Amino acid sequence: MQFVVEQHPNPTPAEQIAARLESPVFGRVFTDHMVTIRWSEASGWHDAKVEARRPFQIDPACAVLHYAQEIFEGMKAYRREDGSIALFRPDQNAKRFRASAARMSMAELPEELFMQAIEALVDIDQAWVPGGDGSLYIRPFMFANESFLGVRASAEYLFCVIACPVGPYFKSGKSAVTVWVSDQYTRAAPGGTGAAKCGGNYAASLIAQTEASAKGCDQVVFLDAAQHRWIEELGGMNVFFVMDDGSLVTPPLSGTILPGITRASIIDLARKEGIEVKETPYAFDSWREDAASGRVKEAFACGTAAVVTAIGEVRHAGGEFTIGDGGEGQVTRRIRTLLTGIQRGKEADPSNWVWKLKSTKQA
Ligand code: PLP
Ligand code: COI
Repeated sequence: MQFVVEQHPNPTPAEQIAARLESPVFGRVFTDHMVTIRWSEASGWHDAKVEARRPFQIDPACAVLHYAQEIFEGMKAYRREDGSIALFRPDQNAKRFRASAARMSMAELPEELFMQAIEALVDIDQAWVPGGDGSLYIRPFMFANESFLGVRASAEYLFCVIACPVGPYFKSGKSAVTVWVSDQYTRAAPGGTGAAKCGGNYAASLIAQTEASAKGCDQVVFLDAAQHRWIEELGGMNVFFVMDDGSLVTPPLSGTILPGITRASIIDLARKEGIEVKETPYAFDSWREDAASGRVKEAFACGTAAVVTAIGEVRHAGGEFTIGDGGEGQVTRRIRTLLTGIQRGKEADPSNWVWKLKSTKQA
């Protein structure tokens, strides 16, 4: 599809961009442009545009405001040492975006169009991709845009991509984060929307995240909805455990957790390194006992925003416990170094996960 490109009339001057890239708070600084594509029952996908980032005008009866038909993705562009820009497995985000759309009865954006949109935005706003440890967080999303209060799938959708330069997700500056295990709230039930990246999942999780913050924790851990027993994932990350025999354990994709791209990549990388990975249910009680006995050596959270972050302390209604020495363990560090090395071009990329942007101007 042909994108109409309308350059921002007053783009941010280079020195102001440099100042904003210095230590951006996650999700607060935005680039100059956005991409939009519309869908309607009558016209299908149409009106693809790259334009200045600006507020939308939506009708008060806009369906998303009432019934929350909304999905999103999260991915990053990295500035490499040679100045070029790379994306990490964007094809997987395109695929998951379609799967989320299908679950939420929304129009499915063709994967090529998703990729075109991402490349168009990163291309026009490439001056905003930080170097060093920073990255450009890309947020594609889509919402029901029909003005209609009837309860059915919308007949119109608006797809949009925005981007923000980011530093580390956790501001704590610690080498490991503290998590709160929610015994009261669950994130997703069997048959529900847990595997879709829809805004509603996050809306429902906020009360537990607020509780976690009140307990002095960085993230919430959710247990399964049926038995409140099995560890599922964190509010915005998947989770892994490093056992004393060197193997990794991570909860299986049972339909109630997000199929993380970082999770899938770590499973692959670990197996290539000769590390055994078990995708198997793991109970919270086992975690507590295994941390005490030393059977669990390390635990880490992973996701696009969080990358690979060690979990040092676990708090719950019945007390708290420490994982290993409370800092980042060796296996966690090895996996973080490997993954970020591939993303940033410092390690070989045997599976071709990295997509180089064709037209980097500042190389
Ligand atoms: N689980 C949840 C609930 C998330 O929001 C995320 C982040 O996107 C992840 C897991 C990790 O997914 P990914 O590695 O694809 O970013
Ligand atoms: C991501 O990692 O992309 C997410 O969506 C998680 C969110 C906590 C920012």
